[in-house]
Order: sequence, then C-alpha cells, then structure tokens
Amino acid sequence: MTLLPVPTTAIIVVAAGSGTRLGAAAPKAFVGIDERSVLRHALDGVFAASPAQVIVVAPAGHEGDAESELRTAAGERTDLGCVVAGGDNRQDSVAAGLRALWGDITTVLVHDAARALTPPSQIDAVAGAVTPDAGVIPALPVVNTLKRVAGGDIVEAVDRADLVAAQTPQGFPRHLLEAAYATARDSGVEYTDDAALFAAAGHSVAHIPGSSLAFKITVPADLQRARQLISAGQQPTPAIRVGVGTDAHGYGGVGNLWLAGMEWPGEPALSGHSDGDAVAHAIVDALLGASGLGDIGEHFGTSHPEYAGAHGDVFLMRTREILAEAGYTIGNVSVQLQANRPRFSARRAQAQAALSAALGGAPVSITATTTDGLGFIGRGEGVSVTAVALVVPRSPTGQSTLEQ
Ligand code: CTP
Ligand code: MG
Repeated sequence: MTLLPVPTTAIIVVAAGSGTRLGAAAPKAFVGIDERSVLRHALDGVFAASPAQVIVVAPAGHEGDAESELRTAAGERTDLGCVVAGGDNRQDSVAAGLRALWGDITTVLVHDAARALTPPSQIDAVAGAVTPDAGVIPALPVVNTLKRVAGGDIVEAVDRADLVAAQTPQGFPRHLLEAAYATARDSGVEYTDDAALFAAAGHSVAHIPGSSLAFKITVPADLQRARQLISAGQQPTPAIRVGVGTDAHGYGGVGNLWLAGMEWPGEPALSGHSDGDAVAHAIVDALLGASGLGDIGEHFGTSHPEYAGAHGDVFLMRTREILAEAGYTIGNVSVQLQANRPRFSARRAQAQAALSAALGGAPVSITATTTDGLGFIGRGEGVSVTAVALVVPRSPTGQSTLEQ
C-alpha cells in the first residue's frame, strides 16, 4: 500500500438529494450517465484532482452503495474517503459532512455530486484560491438576457454585466465555514448555497472562472447533455477545426463607412441590419461555422433587435463568448476584402489590432484586393469579404486539445 501524506484539504461531495426534478427511479446520485453513475463520475473528477480527504454525503439508507462507488473511484486513495448519511436539505447534508472532517484539514471544498462532469482542474483551482479569511467559488458569466417579472408582466431588464452563475466546488477556510454553519443552524435560516451562508456570516467570497462542463444535472435534459458529452468524448476529438464565412454589402448606408471594426471618415457607408461591416460579419460566420454553432442569422439576425445598428466589435465579442461557452478557443482568422475602396493598406495594422482585441487576442490578418473592374465590386456598388477561421475544441475533460 502506498502511504500518502495527510492532506489539509477536504472535499465534501453532497449526494444525498432525491433528484425530484430528474424524476428517476433511484436517487439522482445513483442514476447512470453511461455505465457509471452520477456519483461515480463526480468522484472520478474528485480523485483526479490533488489528494484530499473525500467525504461523500449519501442519502440515508444508501451509504453502502455510496461506499462501493467511493472505493472504485478512489483506487489507491481509498483511505482518504468516507461516507456519511445526509439530511433533509442540502444545508443539513453539508453540516453532516463537516462533522466528519479530520483534524488536519484547513480548507474545505463543498461540491455537488450532481455537477458530475466538473473538470478536476476546476477543483484544484478552487482549492488553490481559498485564503485564510475568504472563500472562493467558480462562476460563469450570465449569457441569457434577464428580465424581472411581476405576475405576467415584464417589470424591467436586469443588467447581466454584474451577475455570474455560481457553480461548485465552493471552497472555504475550515474554521470560518464551521462557525458560519453553526450560526446558520442556530438562526434556522436556509441559504441557497454555501457561499451565501458564508457571506451571511460577514466573510468575503471571491469568484474564479468556472467551466461549462460543471453544469448541474437537474432535469432529464441535463442528463441527456451529460450523456452526449461523454459519448462525444469517446470519439477522437479533432485537434483543430476550420470554418469559412463570406459576406457582401452594398453602399447606401447613412453616415460614414464602418468596416473591420473601425470607422472610416469620408468613405461611403455600407447598408445592412447593423452597420454593414462585412468584414466582421464574415468572421462571425467563419467562427460559428468552424465550431458548428449555427450562423450569424441565428445569433444576430433580425429576430435579435438588440443588435440593430450594432458595430462589428459587439458581434465579434459575443461570438467569442458563444464559442467559449461551447468549449472552443480561437486559433486565428484570415480575411480577404474585395473592394475598390477604402484603400486598406494604410490602416491594415490598426484594423487587425481592433479585430484581434475583439476576439480576445487571437491573431487576425486582412488582405485586400480589387476585382479588376469586374462585377458589382468592380462597378463600385459594394464590397465582398471571405474569412477563414481556425478554432480549437476543448475535450470533455476541459482541456484544450492543444494542451493535452
Ligand atoms: N443534496 C444533498 N442533500 C439534500 C439535498 C441535496 O446532499 N438533502 C445534494 C444533491 O445530492 C446534489 C446537490 O445537493 O448533489 C445539489 O442539489 P440538487 O441538484 O437540488 O439535487 P436534488 O435535491 O437531489 O434534486 P431535486 O431538488 O430536483 O430534488
Ligand atoms: Mg434540491
């Protein structure tokens, strides 16, 4: 047997819920995603992270089932794991887990078993970011447009810029978390998550980037998503993918020309639903095409009035977000503009820098040409653009295929 150093971090894996919204015959933790259960997948992630004490909080009466999942997942780390019975609500289940902490533990992570595909790197990142006086949670930007409602009416739009969606594991300094749990127990208040309970005790909680793979399996569609991700992960993941996008716009817009994310004073404007920036639009289609995520019409078309009149950089930044949510990073983009005007070369470097900034720093190169007087471009009626984009998919383990 390998002797392991006693860890100072513990991970409480709460798995004692019944899974009412999933509606399966067994408690959610024991529902199969593939041949492995939700709990087993969660524990595989936990044991792929740095060594820690692992406390599985199981539904009362299912401790034995949890024990066998724990043993299989733990391998030679089996001495680091134990199972305790949970309570009627999640807070009580976490409290049961806290009672099983070893004396040496200084950092506690609380993790939902239901976030079964959480990358081990996220667990390590949270553990590494906890400080002696502050907690940390992984979180993702909110991507949907949010509205406050009252009955059947929309009351107001909610600015999503200062909102994030919380995930787990949530990490805390042990003694402050224990004290916060004792206070919550005495007050009888039930909090939505551990971060809320910890913050209510007057402590601060930071956030670090989460992962789209750490979504919570709540309803049957989530289970389906987990199954698809796993079967996709068993296919060889191509290291890179390419996509092509084209766009053409005629002159006839109002104001100055907007092209390649920049304003061109004195140049005739292109017409279109937005600012007619054919360079930005061709790049959006190339990126969405490379990632298999639809096209510009689907994400930004006339059914999205919020983009009417928007400039190219808004489209590009949102496209980068869409790709990131689906696990794609942008390799590079190459663009060719066919147009009589503007004369591009003088501002090429500036345009490339502007587009690259909107894409989070991915290199963008632009060439420009005329068509020797041929066609609508040659007659000076409009411009045409072709873009090619390379994207890098992330594997279901959360790593870029170039990082593996
Ligand atoms: N949990 C727990 N003890 C409870 C309730 C929930 O340990 N009494 C755990 C769940 O097992 C899950 C996590 O907390 O891993 C997040 O809860 P949720 O997704 O709501 O799971 P369930 O409560 O099982 O589902 P539902 O609310 O649909 O019944
Ligand atoms: Mg629940």
